[in-house]
Amino acid sequence: MAGRIPQAFIDELLTRVDIVDVIDTRVPLKKAGREYKACCPFHNEKTPSFTVSQVKQFYHCFGCGAHGTAISFLMEYEHMEFPEAVEDLAHLAGLEVPHESGSDTTSASTNQPLYDLLEAAAEFYQQQLRTHPHSNRAVDYLKARGLSGEVAARFCIGFAPPGWDNLIKALGKDKATHARLLETGLVIERSDGSGVYDRFRDRIQFPIHDRRGRTVGFGGRVLGDDSPKYLNSPESPVFHKGRELYGLFEARKAVRKLDRILVVEGYMDVVALAQYEINYAVATLGTATTPDHLEHLYRTVPEVVFCFDGDRAGRAAAWRALENALPVLSDGREARFLFLPEGEDPDTLVRKIGKQAFEQRISGAVPLSDFLFDQLASQLDMNSIDGRARLVDQARPLLARLPDSIFRQMMIEQLAEIAHTDPVRLSQRLEPVHESRLPADSPPAAPARPGKSAVREAIALLLYQPALAGAVEELPQAQDSVPGLALLSELLELLQRRPGLNTGAILEHWRGRDEARHLNKLAHWKPLAENLDLAAELGGLLEQIAQQATARRIDQLLDNEHQRPLDDDEKQELKNLLLARGPGP
Ligand code: CTP
Ligand code: MN
Repeated sequence: MAGRIPQAFIDELLTRVDIVDVIDTRVPLKKAGREYKACCPFHNEKTPSFTVSQVKQFYHCFGCGAHGTAISFLMEYEHMEFPEAVEDLAHLAGLEVPHESGSDTTSASTNQPLYDLLEAAAEFYQQQLRTHPHSNRAVDYLKARGLSGEVAARFCIGFAPPGWDNLIKALGKDKATHARLLETGLVIERSDGSGVYDRFRDRIQFPIHDRRGRTVGFGGRVLGDDSPKYLNSPESPVFHKGRELYGLFEARKAVRKLDRILVVEGYMDVVALAQYEINYAVATLGTATTPDHLEHLYRTVPEVVFCFDGDRAGRAAAWRALENALPVLSDGREARFLFLPEGEDPDTLVRKIGKQAFEQRISGAVPLSDFLFDQLASQLDMNSIDGRARLVDQARPLLARLPDSIFRQMMIEQLAEIAHTDPVRLSQRLEPVHESRLPADSPPAAPARPGKSAVREAIALLLYQPALAGAVEELPQAQDSVPGLALLSELLELLQRRPGLNTGAILEHWRGRDEARHLNKLAHWKPLAENLDLAAELGGLLEQIAQQATARRIDQLLDNEHQRPLDDDEKQELKNLLLARGPGP
C-alpha cells in the first residue's frame, strides 16, 4: 500500500498545473480583468459569480461560497477522493506521485490494478456471450427480452457462464490477481477456507461504469425466474453503491448536451429505454437515491425526473426520493415524478407505446410541489380547519429543508393557498426552522476589507501576495494573547521557509485542519486599489498586532498580580513589556 503523499510534492504540483486549465476544460471560463469567470458549477445561476484567479490558483464563488484549489475543484466537481485528484493533476503535469513509506492511505495508483482487473473481467464476460458453448441460452434470453445486439454491445453486456471457476481460471493465475479478485468481490472465499469460487455464475452481466467510464462492479441477472434475480458486486475500494448510477456514463457519451435525466429502478429499464433512443435514463444500484446521487445529477442537468411504479411501494419510494431531493433543490433545479400504470416498468412500457408516447409521459410528469402537497393532502380532510392546520404542520419541516430560494418562497405561497392562510404569516412561521444550504460562515460578497481584526487583515494580505512574507523580520510574540496570531505566525513561518508558493499551494498545507476554514475565507480578498504599498500595509498591521499582544499580555500579568504575587520570571517579563510599550496612554 502506498503511503502519504509528501506535502512538498503537492507544493510542486500546484505550481506546475494551472487551475485555469483544470477548470476551463470542465466549465468554460471567460477572462474578466485579471481573473476568469463562469456561471458557478456548484449552484444554479444566470449571471457568473464563480471566479478563478490564476495568480492565486484559487477559485471562489460569490454566490454560494464554494472555494478552493485545483485539488478541491476535482474533489468537488468530479467527486474524486484527495489522492485521486492529486493523481489526476500529476498525470496532467507529467509527474509521478511519490508516497512516503509507512501508512496505508489508498490512492488512485493503488486502485489501478483493481480497475484493470474489473475491465479484464468485463471483457471476459462479453467474450463469453459470443463464444461460450452455452452462450446461445444467454443470447436467446436477451433476444426474448427484445434487446438488440447493438444496445447490448453499447452497454457492454456479457455472460458469466455456468460453473464455479470460469473467471478464476481465466484471470486468477497469479497470487496478486487472486487477491484482487477477492477484493472486488468477483470471487468469494468458501466458508470452510478450502478455496474460492466465482460470484457470478450463469448470469447476464451488466458492467457498472463510474463517471469516467471505468468498470467498477457488475450487476448479474439470472436467465430465468430463479432467485435472487439480481446479484451485485459488493462494495469495494472502487465501488460505492451510494455514489454510482448505472447508465450515467453511457448517457453522457450518447447525448452531447444532456438537459434532463430520468431515474428508473432497473438495469433492464435503462437498457430498454436506450434501445428506444431515450438515452438519458440512469438507475441506482438496487438502493434508494442518495443525496450524493442527486447532487451529482444536478451538476450534470437542471431537471431530474423520477420514474416509479404507480403502486403503494412505488409511491413510498418516490417519497423517499423527494425527501432526499429537497436539500439540493436550489433555484433552477427541477424534480418531477412519473408514475407508471400498474404492472408496467419503463422496459415493458416503452416496448408497448414507443419513444414518442413515452417521452410525452415524461413531459407530463408531476412537479415535486404537486406530488408533495397532494400526497400530504390525500391523508387529510382538507375541508376542515383541522386538516389544513395539519397539512401546514406536516409540510413545514419539508419546506424547511429546501435551500433559501425563490422556489422555496413559491412553495410557501402554494401551501398558503391550499391551507387558506396568509402567505406572509406562514412564511414568518416557517423561518425559524429554516436551515440554509450555505455554511453558516460563508463569506459575504466581495469584502472591501477582510475583517476588522489586524490579524485577519495581515493573513489576507499574505494570501494575496505571499512574497510579502520575505520582508518580515520579526514574528509577533506572545501568540496566545491575540486570537489568530498563532495561525498568522505559522503562515509567516511557512512562507519564509518555502518562498514561491502560490495561494492554492499554501491552502493545501492546512487541508483537513480547522484553521483551513478561516484561511479559505480570507483567500479571495483583494485590495481595493492596485497601487497600494502592500509591504508597508503589512508592516503597519504587524506593528499593530505586536502592540495588541503586548497590551494583552500586560493585562494578563496585572490580572494575575491581583490574585497572587508574581514570580520572578513574570515580574521580569512585565517589566520588559512595560518598557517595550514605552510611555503611552
Ligand atoms: N435488484 C437487486 N436485487 C434484486 C432485485 C432487484 O439488486 N434481487 C435491483 C436491480 O438493480 C434491479 C432493480 O433493483 O435492476 C429493479 O428490480 P426489478 O424491477 O425487480 O428488476 P428489473 O430491472 O425490472 O429486471 P427485469 O426486468 O429483468 O425483471
Ligand atoms: Mn423489469
